[in-house]
Order: sequence, then structure tokens, then C-alpha cells
Amino acid sequence: MKLSLPSQSPLQSSDFTFGVATASFQIEGAHQKRLPSIWDTFCDTPHKIADNSNGKQACDHYSLWQEDLDLIDSLGVDAYRLSISWPRVMHQNGQLNPEGVNFYIAILDRLRAKNIKAFVTLYHWDLPQYLEDQGGWLNRDTAYQFRHYVDLITRAFGDRVYSYATLNEPFCSAYLGYETGIHAPGLVGKQYGKKAAHHLLLAHGLAMQVLAENSPESKNGIVLNFTPCYPKSQNKEDIQAAELAEAHFNHWYLKPLLEGQYPALLSQLPLAERPDILAGDLALIAHPIDYVGVNYYTRAICQADAEHGFSQAVPESAEVTEMGWEIYPQGFTDLLVSLHKNYRLPPVYITENGAAMDDTLLSGEVNDVRRLDYFNTHLNAVHEAMLAGVDIQAYFAWSLMDNFEWAEGYVKRFGIVYVDYQTQQRTIKASGLAYRDFLNERISQNQTEKNFA
Ligand code: FCB
Repeated sequence: MKLSLPSQSPLQSSDFTFGVATASFQIEGAHQKRLPSIWDTFCDTPHKIADNSNGKQACDHYSLWQEDLDLIDSLGVDAYRLSISWPRVMHQNGQLNPEGVNFYIAILDRLRAKNIKAFVTLYHWDLPQYLEDQGGWLNRDTAYQFRHYVDLITRAFGDRVYSYATLNEPFCSAYLGYETGIHAPGLVGKQYGKKAAHHLLLAHGLAMQVLAENSPESKNGIVLNFTPCYPKSQNKEDIQAAELAEAHFNHWYLKPLLEGQYPALLSQLPLAERPDILAGDLALIAHPIDYVGVNYYTRAICQADAEHGFSQAVPESAEVTEMGWEIYPQGFTDLLVSLHKNYRLPPVYITENGAAMDDTLLSGEVNDVRRLDYFNTHLNAVHEAMLAGVDIQAYFAWSLMDNFEWAEGYVKRFGIVYVDYQTQQRTIKASGLAYRDFLNERISQNQTEKNFA
């Protein structure tokens, strides 16, 4: 089985960027060489992580980064999306930690030497614990601390970065971290989620100002996760429930970023659940972005719920991944097309897409046909969205390799490369080989076209 798109697909143009993605806490290990983060504390709290694991070793990418970059290169990608660990590059006194900074500079230099574009996410959930001790994202000052860190690190990186994302999925940081408690720091309460979200968005706006100053040549934006919500039935109540879920999950983030205002839902929230918005905040949050990063995994089916306004229904007889997430590529096209219709969208980068599957390593091979099929149908879904007029410029597979999947620990595998955590041996799965073949074919096709042009 291989990855294939209709011939002449806009995804096959040489301007389209293909990559693989990772995040610092999920792969690096070497925890003794950085400050503790909220995820270290969370992992040390009983019953928070499915397999009681932590990020102390992870994929030991801190030691194996050179081999890992060779692996990335061998896949033939144009780009690598990585994140910077704030607690690795900063000391608690507000100064850079040169050892941590040099680790990333070496990676960025090696990527440049290999002609692979660096897409750098400045915050992928690993907040320094000392900042959480001062209130974390519930404390407005964390946004200013973020600005300071971004200022120092972007100066240190100079012109090495092709594209910056300020934040990865502020919805997850705010909702899972401060409202449902499924993620670090594990706070629970409806009064926290939107307050944390506002400070995250403020941090984004402040960082955009810094990036405009320190790195005007790079493509600067933000990465959001989207779960398109479908009504369980065509009843008015279910339709309204799906719209409400959309407002909470999706528009709550994109609307202030692109339009400088929160959804109308704001005025319907109980006072205790509203964020603390100061004059000028929304203008800051709406700082122009060069692109929006879209992460897509699945859809939600929503029904009316008297107590919470909406609840999620489990799709009947749907095909699901190991995460229990429905495989629904049409949702990807629908999402992209509806964002394009409802907003004045900047260019879109698909910054994450992928699936956890039940992988087995047998005689040195992982025949992950279901993941391969997932990639095939979802790449075709992106193709459909482009035909419908959405300006999509990049696609990143999540993930380069199996890694620490947050509250699920190491049980869930998302890699296109298999990791044996005992030996740290990497094995490219069938999906990774197919991605490589697909990228190589594209390069040779484009070269042939150039030769005949
Ligand atoms: C996203 C995260 C990423 C990874 C995938 C499966 O929400 O950004 O780190 O865990 O889900």
C-alpha cells in the first residue's frame, strides 16, 4: 500500500512543504539538564499518567539528536517542526541557560546544513514549575514572563528559524490543564479554563510583537487544534449543542486571534467563568499572523445536555484509533473549508495530523497499514480542501517517532518511526517508508517537470 494523491494535486507542487513534528517534553529526556516543568510534577503525582511513566528519559533525543536528524533527513522531508523547552533554555533568574540554548542551536545549524526548514514552536506545554508555583497561566504575569523568554531565545537563534509558532494548542493548555485536570498542572474548575486561555492568548500577542522585532523574516503564527462538532441529530437542540461546542473548542481561540473579539458566548458565561480582559488585550491578541497552524485528529458528535449545554456522543460503529478517536477524514475537509468560509484566514499550515495505532515490531518491521491508510485518506482530505480554495501551504505528520503521549504515557504510539524504549532503537514503520517514497516521487516528478519546462 502506498500514499497517493490525484495527479496534478496542488500538494505535489514543489512549493508545498512536507514535514514531521515532535515536541520537547515528549522526546528529549535529559531532565537533569533543565528546570523542572509542570509535566515533571504532574508525572510525579499518582494516577495522572496511564502507565505511571514520566519524561525523564523519553526517546533520549537529547543524546541521540544527531542520529534523529539523520533519520529525518532520510525521510526526504522539507521541514522539521520541533519545540523549545522553556525550562531548558532559561534559568530561574530570567537569564538564558547557554547549555540548553546551544543544544537547540546545534540542531538548527544541522537542519540548515541538511537544507531542512526549521519550524520552531516556542511553547508546547512544558511551563517551568516555578512559574506554576506563582499561579501559572492563571497569573497574568506569566504572559510577560513568556515575552521575556521569547525575546531572549529569538535573539539567540538569529536567522536560523524558518517559521515560529508562539503556542501549541492553547485550548489543550487551558481546558485540559486548568479546567478538566487531565493534563498538567491538573487544576479542575470551570472558573479557571477561560482565564488561563486569555493569558495564553495574551502571551501569544506579546510574543508576536517580539517576533516582529527580532525575527521579521520568519513566518510567525500560532498552532491551534480544531475538533469540528457535528450534531447527533437534526433536532434544533442538537444543532445548537454542536454550535455551542464549536464556540468553546474552536472559535474561542481563532476569533480573538483573527477578529479581536471573543464569540458572543462570552456574555452568556457566568461571571466567575469569564476571563479578566484588560483594555488593549484584544488588540494585542489580534496582532497580524503570517499563518495559522491547524492540528486535526478527529471530529466530535454533540448532543443537547440540560446541565452542560452539550455533551459528546460516542459515534456508533465508527472506526476509531487506539485513542478511541473516530477516523473521519471528511471532517478535515469540512473543517478547512468552513474556516475558509467563515474567516479571513491567513495561509494555513497543517502542523499536526496522525493516529495512534496498535503497532507491533515483528522481525524488524512494523506493518502499520491502518496508520498508512489514515495518512492517505487525510492527505486526500487536504487535497479536497485545496481544490475548494483553501490556501494550505504545509503538512506535518504527527509524529516523527513514538514518544511520551502526555496522560497516556508511552502506551499510545503516534510515530511513523517505532521506538524501542529499552534500547532506544528506531525502526521506520511502513507508514514512514510510504511517506518517504511519496516525498521522493514528488521530488523526482517536480524535477522532471522542471527539466521539460
Ligand atoms: C496534540 C499534541 C501533540 C500530540 C498529539 C497526539 O494535541 O499537540 O503533542 O500529543 O496531540
